[in-house]
Amino acid sequence: MELKAIARRIQEKHGIPATERDVVRVFSAALASPDIWRIVDLSEIPVLATCEVLRAFAEAGWVEFINARVSVTEDGKVVAESLGISPAKELRCPRCRGRGLELTPFATLAQEFHELAKNRPEASQEFDQGYVTEETTVARAALLYARGDLVGREILVLGDDDLVSLALALTRLPRRVVALDVDQRIVHFLREAAREKSLNLEVHEHDLRDPLPPELLRRFHTFACDPTESYRGYLAFAQRGLSALRGPGCAGYLGLTRLEASLSKWRQIQRALLEAGAVITDLFPNFHDYVNWPYIETMRAWPHLPVKRVPGKLEIWYRSALIRVELVEEPQVENVRYAGDIFTDEEAATT
Ligand SMILES: [Fe+2]
Repeated sequence: MELKAIARRIQEKHGIPATERDVVRVFSAALASPDIWRIVDLSEIPVLATCEVLRAFAEAGWVEFINARVSVTEDGKVVAESLGISPAKELRCPRCRGRGLELTPFATLAQEFHELAKNRPEASQEFDQGYVTEETTVARAALLYARGDLVGREILVLGDDDLVSLALALTRLPRRVVALDVDQRIVHFLREAAREKSLNLEVHEHDLRDPLPPELLRRFHTFACDPTESYRGYLAFAQRGLSALRGPGCAGYLGLTRLEASLSKWRQIQRALLEAGAVITDLFPNFHDYVNWPYIETMRAWPHLPVKRVPGKLEIWYRSALIRVELVEEPQVENVRYAGDIFTDEEAATT
């Protein structure tokens, strides 16, 4: 079987753009680990595409599914060797976990945040939620600090099940923090924490499908969000964020995963950000670690998995990059309404 044919099959069956290189990524991942979640993580292509590649490999006799594990066969190993494919090796720095940040100065913040986050609302499928680990949220605050986007700044957080606004406000360094969320549970939780700790944190209930209220437009130095991964959904978050910025020199922080966004979608998204007047200044792969959400077995990708095992809550497999953008021109975005489902597209896996 040709790898190119498998790439075509992904495109034909799922409408997900894929290259021969993407098939190689899955092969490398399978050579590195028999665990389905580790393979999904290391493959760095949409989850549904990884599932399709594994099924094609099984048909070719290159892998077997035994005891909920993916095992590369002797034939598979011979083929891999003949194609020059080696096991994936992440080589991630164990001290900073690849984020390149020294978090020791934020130890007090981490402790305070941990105490407050204990009672956070559980992730809800209705809003495509899935929050990052506490360490990830603290690391985000540290990165804003390091880039000069925290101290004395007015910051807008769009959608906040990660509780980023809480971590930022707890540093007591920004001039103002405003959080928007569609989920009343998050809004109440953040308001309650802000009151308890006397934080400079305003929280508004807002559906990001709707345009931003005029009083939030062109008011902020920094925005942060972790958009849903469909192209339209991504734009809804990113464009709202950009339209909230004062102008050139102001910055935004966005998550973007490989597991629900092909590199073709990455290109579309990057182009939209550039066209909106921003430049990508920083891109950290796998900056965000996500805590497993309670709806794994009802998520879109579940029926596609060739072997099914529910991962533990802190068995991290879903990760995403952190992208920092900075405006170099006045923001060029329309503050329009997005109707209907902004969560699902062909590449969606966890909705
Ligand atoms: Fe490091």
